[in-house]
Amino acid sequence: DWTMGAFRAEAIARIRAQVGTGRVVCGLSGGVDSSVAAVLIHEAIGDQLTCIYVDHGLMRANESEQVVGTFRDRFNIRLIHRDASDLFLGQLSGVSDPEVKRKTIGRLFIEVFEEEQVRLGGADFLAQGTLYPDVIESVSATGGPSVTIKSHHNVGGLPSHMRMKLVEPLRDLFKDEVRELGRELGIPEAIVGRHPFPGPGLAIRIPGEVTREKADLLRKVDTIFLEEIRAAGLYDAIWQAFAVLLPVRTVGVMGDGRTYDQACALRAVTSTDGMTADVYPFDMGFLTRVAGRIVNEVRGINRVTYDITSKPPGTIEWE
Ligand code: XMP
Repeated sequence: DWTMGAFRAEAIARIRAQVGTGRVVCGLSGGVDSSVAAVLIHEAIGDQLTCIYVDHGLMRANESEQVVGTFRDRFNIRLIHRDASDLFLGQLSGVSDPEVKRKTIGRLFIEVFEEEQVRLGGADFLAQGTLYPDVIESVSATGGPSVTIKSHHNVGGLPSHMRMKLVEPLRDLFKDEVRELGRELGIPEAIVGRHPFPGPGLAIRIPGEVTREKADLLRKVDTIFLEEIRAAGLYDAIWQAFAVLLPVRTVGVMGDGRTYDQACALRAVTSTDGMTADVYPFDMGFLTRVAGRIVNEVRGINRVTYDITSKPPGTIEWE
């Protein structure tokens, strides 16, 4: 009978057989899939693996520190942390079209990843946290007409001139199995149970032009929302929850004064695969408590809305 312990042992043997004495690079994103892939591969081949974490400056609060702390200090994985926030934010300046934002971030990601990979002296293999549903999706995508709603950017989407062989140890697994394997490998629950987060990060939760100031503001709102969700014991019942910074200013009243500040939206959905989603039915007491904290604690925000759109017709992200 099949157990995660047996899968782990077999996967390690397979990785060793495939890689031999070769060198492997892995793009870490902080997400579950690349994290589990990295720890599993590290267990198989140790320092033949180097992880590259390209920090675009659009992660959630404390996320980069957590990723670097976990993988470098706790698992002793060779890790390059490249802070490229100036580059990304510089190139995003003046860009407000959602697809141009996505493409800009995707292109820079590849450029920076490649630069670091070359600086390392190259590698023989590229590790990716591809899951079974990704395999199915790319097979069926070639079999018939498809509509691209958003150009997805992922760590693994490298150009063909970087022709490295792929190491994809999670290809047979579904998301819940990857989480189980992650726990088996001792990866902290904060990473294993984390909500999905899009490759372009907060950029697609800031409609209009992205700036460092807006990203900082959004991080504060997001942190409060997630703190309250965790405190209410709802985190694991929700597929994804996050805040969106709206490019709208509205009038409010604070003490004796009038405010004219930005509005934000909160989004929380349930889903099994991200393809369809339902709005999470918070009770009104929860929502008003979160809204109260946000307008009181985040200077620059004076209005909070809750997005009650399902997918379809909405998408989960706003861009
Ligand atoms: P949408 O907004 O299309 O999102 O309903 C569906 C799921 O995909 C995530 N998402 C992304 N994930 N790179 C990713 O790795 C991306 O570019 C990207 N865009 C959206 C989104 O967070 C949701 O879980």
